[in-house]
Amino acid sequence: MANVSLTSAATHKCWTFNPISRAAFPNSFAFRFSQPRRATIIMSTSSKTTVLVTGAGGRTGQIVYKKLKERVDQYTARGLVRTPESKESIGGEDDVYVGDVRDADSIVPAIQGIDALIILTSAVPKIKPGFDFSQGGRPEFYFEEGTFPEQVDWIGQKNQIDAAIAAGVKQIVLVGSMGGTNLNHPLNSLGNGNILVWKRKAEQYLADSGIPYTIIRAGGLQDKDGGIRELLVGKDDELLETETKTIARADVAETCIQALSFEEAKFKAFDLASKPEGSGTPTKDFKALFSQATSRF
Ligand SMILES: NC(=O)c1ccc[n+]([C@@H]2O[C@H](COP(=O)([O-])OP(=O)(O)OC[C@H]3O[C@@H](n4cnc5c(N)ncnc54)[C@H](OP(=O)(O)O)[C@@H]3O)[C@@H](O)[C@H]2O)c1
Repeated sequence: MANVSLTSAATHKCWTFNPISRAAFPNSFAFRFSQPRRATIIMSTSSKTTVLVTGAGGRTGQIVYKKLKERVDQYTARGLVRTPESKESIGGEDDVYVGDVRDADSIVPAIQGIDALIILTSAVPKIKPGFDFSQGGRPEFYFEEGTFPEQVDWIGQKNQIDAAIAAGVKQIVLVGSMGGTNLNHPLNSLGNGNILVWKRKAEQYLADSGIPYTIIRAGGLQDKDGGIRELLVGKDDELLETETKTIARADVAETCIQALSFEEAKFKAFDLASKPEGSGTPTKDFKALFSQATSRF
């Protein structure tokens, strides 16, 4: 009886049951039957989902990381940050990996063994030195050499997607930005970076990859409390024509995590904003929210 099933094994009177140390199989419950023929069966009883959030030192990324850590019964959290300083800034725990998304090899350890990936890295423009805020007006921006959106938002996100696919990751959530349908959007001229163009290219790459994905194109991000506004799903930048085109980073973070729980979020791309606090009903039903999104891209 070379290929005995668990059912027949369990009903076979001669078989004995010996627990094996849990330490040897973290997250697993392993057991061994012996006699009349020795067979080893290892069953994972861990229903926890291991999730890596990249850009975990960023303003939205660190909220996602914190929320995942708080939901310890459901998730095993990991973070990826660019520098040891960022790692320290979010607590410095062993589940925070240091890597640069432009360097494909450097992110492999963080991605190995995860179930889901939440991408929250982004090129970040800097204000040109010498700008005097007290004089008013608009500052000029630039990207440092090697940190242009082409390198971070295109190559860096492609590297993450490729590494996740190679590691057998089951779902990728990618946070992008509204505005991508308009080549002349002012964000594209920021530091001559064409940031929305490169973000969109990475989004397309993900949508074409075949892996279950959720692309969340956020409106203007605000550092406000989450969970107290009605969230709005849109497409093709239509929300930009309305009065409701901003969203709290905390709400984006929550939406990223909720996307891991609902089939309705998979193979979808949508814009995300919120009604102002006090108007509308705060969103609690994320299944219904994701059901409103109908576009694959
Ligand atoms: N600002 C808005 O109003 C707005 C609107 C819509 C959408 N969005 C998008 O929403 C997302 C979240 O925005 P946010 O403001 O919360 O982000 P953020 O604070 O700017 O964080 C971006 C993160 O990316 C990391 N990063 C940059 N280059 C990296 C590299 N080469 N390797 C690894 N990590 C790297 C940064 O790490 P370091 O801290 O080490 O540099 C930083 O933690 C971004 O994609 C953003 O473009 C923003």
